[in-house]
Amino acid sequence: MSRRTLTYVCQNCGAASARWQGKCEACGEWNCLVEEGDGTSGVAGRPPAPGRSPRKGRRFALQPLTGENQEAPRLSSGVAELDRVTGGGFVRGSVLLMAGDPGIGKSTLLIQAAASLARLGHRAVYISGEEAVAQVRLRAERLGLGSAPVELAAETSVEDIVATLSEGSTPRLVIIDSIQTMWTDLVDSAPGTVTQVRGSAQALIRYAKNSGAAVILVGHVTKDGQIAGPRVVEHMVDAVLSFEGDGRHQFRILRAVKNRFGPTDEIGVFEMTGLGLRQVANPSELFLSERDLGSPGTAVFAGVEGTRPVLVEIQALVAPTTLGTPRRAVVGWDGSRLSMVLAVLQAHCGVNLGGHDVYLNVAGGLRIAEPAADLAAAAALVSSLTNAPLPADAVYFGEVSLSGAVRPVAQTAARLKEAQKLGFARAVLPEAARNETADPGLSLTTVSALVGLVSDIAARGEKTSRNQPAERFRNHSGDRRAREAQVA
Ligand code: TYD
Ligand code: MG
Repeated sequence: MSRRTLTYVCQNCGAASARWQGKCEACGEWNCLVEEGDGTSGVAGRPPAPGRSPRKGRRFALQPLTGENQEAPRLSSGVAELDRVTGGGFVRGSVLLMAGDPGIGKSTLLIQAAASLARLGHRAVYISGEEAVAQVRLRAERLGLGSAPVELAAETSVEDIVATLSEGSTPRLVIIDSIQTMWTDLVDSAPGTVTQVRGSAQALIRYAKNSGAAVILVGHVTKDGQIAGPRVVEHMVDAVLSFEGDGRHQFRILRAVKNRFGPTDEIGVFEMTGLGLRQVANPSELFLSERDLGSPGTAVFAGVEGTRPVLVEIQALVAPTTLGTPRRAVVGWDGSRLSMVLAVLQAHCGVNLGGHDVYLNVAGGLRIAEPAADLAAAAALVSSLTNAPLPADAVYFGEVSLSGAVRPVAQTAARLKEAQKLGFARAVLPEAARNETADPGLSLTTVSALVGLVSDIAARGEKTSRNQPAERFRNHSGDRRAREAQVA
């Protein structure tokens, strides 16, 4: 008879090992290996105990793909930007993880959503494991939500919470702030540990599926950007929303990282104000609100986030280096994408930046993942290098390939329409995209190869450098003073 073998499974990352060890070799976590049945006898795991015959399987009916399907009933949160990211509102019985850095505004956003739901007559419960009821109340009052009939509690025991919520009418929305403070009796490790976070999340997910309430779990992100508890909760929940932002900016971006009921490429944009989070319906206006008009090294990129076009300024600074290895620093864009654009500039356009430090920044704290930003980034880089300001009324988009060609990108018409709406007069775009829109509404400059754009910008630079540089500088700072006066 074969001996029953055991496997030890890391409770943090799920790696299996043949013997018990103090530290998981895969993720480096300590004391997280737990004995589990082996997988050699099939998917179900454990072989039957000796002397007992295997259970005969129950037969179940198989269903066709088509059929009567209830459309997932959604509940609008009353916060349009949040609905956009979730794909139309909270789905009944679903569990959503809201992840973000401490202090980014998770509690603020969720109390606002709970209040707006409660005002529409739905039962909304807010359970805080971090703050006392009085603190949550104080914040709600400051946000002008004091009168909303949200039910509050400061509790951390999952069993107590489920028992309380199971009484009376089922809440439509339950907010657990945060999952790291919750603990369950079923697991005997300290709150905040991976096992506790996983156990508590499991219990709350079971509650959501059984009751039909939508549950939102708040999760803090660790220093290295992982959702703490590490990623254990991420695969258990239906949706993961990440709330991002830069402490220095008041803009906050809500992004779906995973969504079983909707798209994952939509973003929601908020602005943190003294009165809580304000929705930003037109992000382009916000991202372009503080443009440095007429200075070299800035290009406006016509991007698309999900279904919504977003115009954003890309800023570049190219300066002679004093270091052996020049610096390449990039904020809001992919560092390897920058290296690629620099390599194409060098190999195909004769622009050598080997002796220059390069800094690239996406204004407003937005993070761009689209390859369509290549052309705008290249334009900003060349503009900074040649000290030639780009036309202030132009937008740029297009993907640059390794051969130096400029490739078309999706949604040309939407990008052009947004640019026109915001008062731009021309667009620089890939040659192949010229015929995608019948009535662009703004003048189009097409480029088929990056080298064409580079020589255009360099020619502008020569023209401007013939003017007095000091004159130009005076004009520029004069502009700024005028603007400041206007603001004051
Ligand atoms: P909070 O929602 O408590 O963050 P989290 O739950 O993600 O940890 O928000 C904390 C920050 O938001 C805090 O630094 C102050 C700022 N804030 C405002 O600027 N205005 C406001 O109206 C509120 C409520 C918070
Ligand atoms: Mg909080």
